[in-house]
Formats: sequence, structure tokens, C-alpha cells
Amino acid sequence: MNTSHISSIEDQNALVFTGNHLLGIEGLSAAEITSLLDLAESYVDFNRQEEKSLTTLCGRTQINLFFESSTRTQASFELAGKRLGADVMNMAVASSSINKGETLLDTAMTLNAMQPNLLVVRHGSSGAVKLLAQKVDCSVVNAGDGQHEHPTQALLDALTIRRNLGCLEGLTVAICGDILHSRVARSNILLLNTMGARVRIIAPPTLLPDHADRLGVEVFHDMRKGLKNVDVVMMLRLQLERMTAALIPSRREYFHHYGLDYDKLAYASPDARVMHPGPMNRGMEIASAVADDLNISLIHEQVEMGVAIRMAVLDALSRERSGGDQ
Ligand code: NCD
Repeated sequence: MNTSHISSIEDQNALVFTGNHLLGIEGLSAAEITSLLDLAESYVDFNRQEEKSLTTLCGRTQINLFFESSTRTQASFELAGKRLGADVMNMAVASSSINKGETLLDTAMTLNAMQPNLLVVRHGSSGAVKLLAQKVDCSVVNAGDGQHEHPTQALLDALTIRRNLGCLEGLTVAICGDILHSRVARSNILLLNTMGARVRIIAPPTLLPDHADRLGVEVFHDMRKGLKNVDVVMMLRLQLERMTAALIPSRREYFHHYGLDYDKLAYASPDARVMHPGPMNRGMEIASAVADDLNISLIHEQVEMGVAIRMAVLDALSRERSGGDQ
């Protein structure tokens, strides 16, 4: 496909996703998720070309407002917006008025007055992005809010799985490690359940939320039992910065019980693939050799899919704003 000189990717199917914002996976239907994955698929091909600029979002302004540090998510949203032709601005929160006592909503209203079309927001408090979306006039994308949701991560994970294993329905996916602090786990559980996959979570009791069994998952505390015959092993980072108490015995002991190495991976299906949203704590939740094993690790592909998914989301949201007439 040579699309480098056309203004926008033509979607083969009508886009089912209808919404002014993307605040979470909760509430999205299987058809909406599939239509976003299908649209992202065309951006994967496009991103592999030498020339990568479209005019889909030409004239639109996208502001990335990150109250928590981020490498891959922020870079990915920035590239996605730029490849679609938007004017992209990154708000450096560390040097903004937030540090002079301004509230989240005052910052939001200030930015709103600058008439952006898209706001991409990451914030340390669950629910903060939804609150902000209620106050501004533009589309808002949740790039991670506290321990609540990280919808584009779940979508990029789904795209990565679909491309490698053919479909999501009927697969068994194990999500392992620090479930308690993980918005990635929450969004993935919601998405995988909606798409008909079976989800297991494997963690020590101290790293599980209350009532984990009510999430529509099977709960395991033993890696070897939980990994038995799974198709996908999704490892999570130990979010030490969010731990206010000693929730793990020692890093060494945690790796011994819950770190993914070849020995534990041998219990999974022989074709199982390994994923991690990054950033990784090598030697804590995952052995370097497993993370770097190109025959089983999808970690780099997840990053690649991240740009395509974010292009699809920004494209879809701007279609909604222009009346769905594109
Ligand atoms: C995740 C996040 O920020 O929630 N990372 C990411 O978006 N790539 C997971 C994490 O921080 O461990």
C-alpha cells in the first residue's frame, strides 16, 4: 500500500466507535473495539513506509497534558498526532502553574481557552481525566488515570495479540504481578472480557485489589498453576512508587515466586507469547533473557502498535467532532 501522498487513510468499514472522548474501555462494545483495531491496522502498514505524513488532522491542535512522567505513551501520542498532521504541543507540567498552586480544573480551563481540538491527559488520580472532560469543549483521551484505566494501552495490547494469534475470542490470557496498582490490568481485563477471551490474574494477595474475584477473572497466587496452558502471559511492572507499605518481601524473593523466567514459562502453552507494557524492571518481574527472546516476546511490537492505535483513536475522535461526515 502506498499511502504516503494521500491526505487520509480511507477506512474500508464504517467506524462503529461513536464518542466524543476515550476515557476508558468500560462501556465500549465489542464492535466499537473491533472497529478501532481495524482502523489501527491500516496505520500499521502506513507507519512502515518511508514517508509518514498525512493531513487527516491538519489545522487541529492537540495538547498532551501529562501530570505523571511517561516515556513511551507521551512519545507515542506525540508521533501519532504529528503523523496525522496535527499541531502538537506537550505541556511540561513540571514547569507549569500547577506547581504554583493552580488546580487541575483551572489548568484545564486555561488550556480550553486556547481552543485545542484534542487533549491527551495523564493524571495520578483515578477519575481526574473524566472530571476534566466534563469541563472542556474538546475531545479528551485518557492516557492513564491513577489506578483506574489506560484504554489505549489495552487497545494496543489487543492489536498485538490479534496480529500474532489471529483473534482474541477463546484465548486464555494471564495478567501477572502488581494488579493492585495497575490501570493497564483493569483496562485489559475489561477489554479481554468484552472480546470473549478468558482472563486469569496471578499475584500475591498483597498485590490484588479487594474483591478481585468480582472482576470476571480467575485468581491464582501460584505462577506455575496460573500459567498452565495460557496463550498469552502479560507481565506488569511492580509500581514501587505507588506502594505506601511493604507489599513485597524482597525483590529477590518476589522474582523467585512471581518473576517470569523460562522455568515458569514452560507451564504455558508451547506457542505462548510474552508481553509487558513497559517500563520493565528487569530481574524483578521478568528475566532479561525472556524479555529479549524475539521468538516469544512481543514487547517491541507493543510499542509499534501503540503509535498505530493512537493514530486510530485521534482520527476517530476528530471524525466525531466534525459530524461523522468523513
Ligand atoms: C504503564 C502505565 O503508565 O500505566 N506504562 C505505560 O503506559 N507504558 C504501566 C506502568 O507504568 O507500569
